[in-house]
Amino acid sequence: MTDIVASNRDRLLQAAVEAKTFAYVPYSKFRVGAALLTEDGEIIKGANIENASYGGTICAERTAFVKAVSEGHRKFVALAVTTDVASSIAPCGMCRQVIREFCPLDMPILLAASSYLEKEDGVRECTLEELLPFSFGPEDLERDRG
Ligand code: THU
Repeated sequence: MTDIVASNRDRLLQAAVEAKTFAYVPYSKFRVGAALLTEDGEIIKGANIENASYGGTICAERTAFVKAVSEGHRKFVALAVTTDVASSIAPCGMCRQVIREFCPLDMPILLAASSYLEKEDGVRECTLEELLPFSFGPEDLERDRG
């Protein structure tokens, strides 16, 4: 873990918990909070926003990325995700691909259980590469074709 991630780890996890507060989940009642740490130490939060037309639902992770990128942030050093579940929950496949667009494969992703502060193994840490091995990303579009 790099210095910037280590020194902002607690803040980042707390921000994911705060983000969850604003989840709009009338259908699933499944709240998710995400928090992205930029290379400048800024934190951008996101919650899941559901829709009566279920396919229009936006996950917490993608809310955070869309907020951050549309405000000019492009470089991220960590992501934290939390839910109300007592164990760690991992991002869905679509979110993993969105993370892949903007983040290095070795970027830490912190998956926090609902009451992670009370548990010794409350935060599961992994990398993007672990979540999305052998992946397709922006650099693949630059490859020679023929
Ligand atoms: N959800 C997320 O916000 N992130 C994920 O990675 C998994 C699923 C949300 C979408 C929906 O609002 C609810 O969780 C149930 O699927």
